[in-house]
Amino acid sequence: MNDFLDVFYRRRSIRKFTEESVSREDLIALLKAGMSGPSAMNAKPWEFVVITEKAILTKLRKNLMFAKMVAPAAICVLGSKRLQANKGGDLFWVQDCSAATENILLAATAMGLGAVWIGIHPVHIFERQVKSILNLPNGVTPLNLIMIGHPAEEKDARTQYDATRVHWGAFPRTGKDETIEEDAVLDDEEKSEHDLHDL
Ligand SMILES: Cc1cc2nc3c(=O)[nH]c(=O)nc-3n(C[C@H](O)[C@H](O)[C@H](O)COP(=O)(O)O)c2cc1C
Repeated sequence: MNDFLDVFYRRRSIRKFTEESVSREDLIALLKAGMSGPSAMNAKPWEFVVITEKAILTKLRKNLMFAKMVAPAAICVLGSKRLQANKGGDLFWVQDCSAATENILLAATAMGLGAVWIGIHPVHIFERQVKSILNLPNGVTPLNLIMIGHPAEEKDARTQYDATRVHWGAFPRTGKDETIEEDAVLDDEEKSEHDLHDL
């Protein structure tokens, strides 16, 4: 298997870590991978909180019901209205920050680290807990926490490829399709009724 593609298949959620800390150099390499990701209109609607203080990691673990793993480091990926380069992020920040997150997970795998994505947004109670523990300012929303460390468990590489979920070309027409017109091209007036004018 090609080494580069292998990283995608080897990326697994790692929830057990050794006590070894993650170096600042490695954390910066992960952040660089995250920020190299694509974003709508290149708005880069993201900020990151890097957490290595034991007291804060313990607070997160105690409060968040799905983040019970003991990791020496975490990165909180924030959607950022206050630093986004343009309004692209207003619509697409979740996708932009998810792309950054996946880049971080893949980079961690390539670097021999382990990591797991803990979903925060859109669960309001999780958002409130993280905002309070990390003292987040207005204008940012925590999308997730990525727990990071040196792996203390091994998982098999796999693709999860499933041919039944792949549709080559359009879906076949059944004659029962009501909502979608044969020609779905919108005229300008129709377009202005949609969300696009926000950009
Ligand atoms: C949006 C999102 C939220 C997730 N939240 C959690 C979580 O709260 N706790 C956890 O242990 N894993 C969480 N995961 C990891 C998934 O459980 C994991 O990706 C899935 O089971 C597939 O396993 P794999 O990552 O090893 O391929 C989350 C993953 C995503 C993409």
